[in-house]
Amino acid sequence: MTRGTTESARTDPQLTAKLLTEVLPYIQRWRDKVVVIKFGGNAMIDDALAATFASDMVLLRQVGILPVVVHGGGPQIGDMLRRLGKESVFEDGLRVTDAETLDIARMVLVGKVNREIVGAINMHGPLAVGLSGQDAGIITAKARDSRLGFVGDVSAVNSTMIERMLAEGLIPVISTIGADAAGQAYNINADTVAGAIASSLGAEKIIYLTDVAGLLADVDNADTLISRITSEALRASLDEGELVGGMIPKITAAVEAVEHGVSSAHLLDGRVPHVMLIELFTDSGIGTLITKEPYTGSDGVES
Ligand code: ARG
Repeated sequence: MTRGTTESARTDPQLTAKLLTEVLPYIQRWRDKVVVIKFGGNAMIDDALAATFASDMVLLRQVGILPVVVHGGGPQIGDMLRRLGKESVFEDGLRVTDAETLDIARMVLVGKVNREIVGAINMHGPLAVGLSGQDAGIITAKARDSRLGFVGDVSAVNSTMIERMLAEGLIPVISTIGADAAGQAYNINADTVAGAIASSLGAEKIIYLTDVAGLLADVDNADTLISRITSEALRASLDEGELVGGMIPKITAAVEAVEHGVSSAHLLDGRVPHVMLIELFTDSGIGTLITKEPYTGSDGVES
């Protein structure tokens, strides 16, 4: 480092002004638009990345975007079960959730992970409010399969409370516990919940933070990133079983959200600092953009 200055202080002030001018069309375009972000993977586990995510949330809110954060916490639940010496049983790769496991999952998701995200965002501006899907009836759940215990699926979303919070300028941070009509709680996959909440809100965007660059034409080759694809093309690949790997639930949720009216879904690499700013405020973006119609850029040119 030269003359003991920080990186940003060394940046040419003219360049800073030029950058701000370049993002203006996007700031105008996304103003007052709801953007649902599924927060997870490395971005949530790595402290430095989580801190960057938190400040980006406040930045998005301050430029007029309405972010809604949805999070899971599978690895953190697994850690706590191990610390408590509770053995997990798996069926088809899914953890069987008995009453005790459900209690632990709720404590970890609502009591720990949610609090950490809210706390990290609020260091940059007192805007984040934590909610569980049980609050104000946001997520009505149903059992997925009796063999899995209290693993749920979304049966309905009531986004009234989320809309009220957005109208107050707040950033809702939602953990993915839902309840059925009898009040029984369920742990629900966060990718699915994020998609369902985005559809219910009529969101502009749903963003999935993953641990890969995006959708790859060849899963073993990071250079084969698909930058843009229509939901129709992706649905066809899903139906024909052309896609493989752990991304399928995320891809399915993203495609469904676009089919249900969300303007665009983005699969982004949460390991890249400020990945959302790069995606939202540049023409070329950085991850995979999924839209219903072939994408029209800010220049109005179809590609
Ligand atoms: N910034 C624009 C948007 O948020 C374009 C992003 C393009 N992204 C891509 N992966 N091709 O819609």
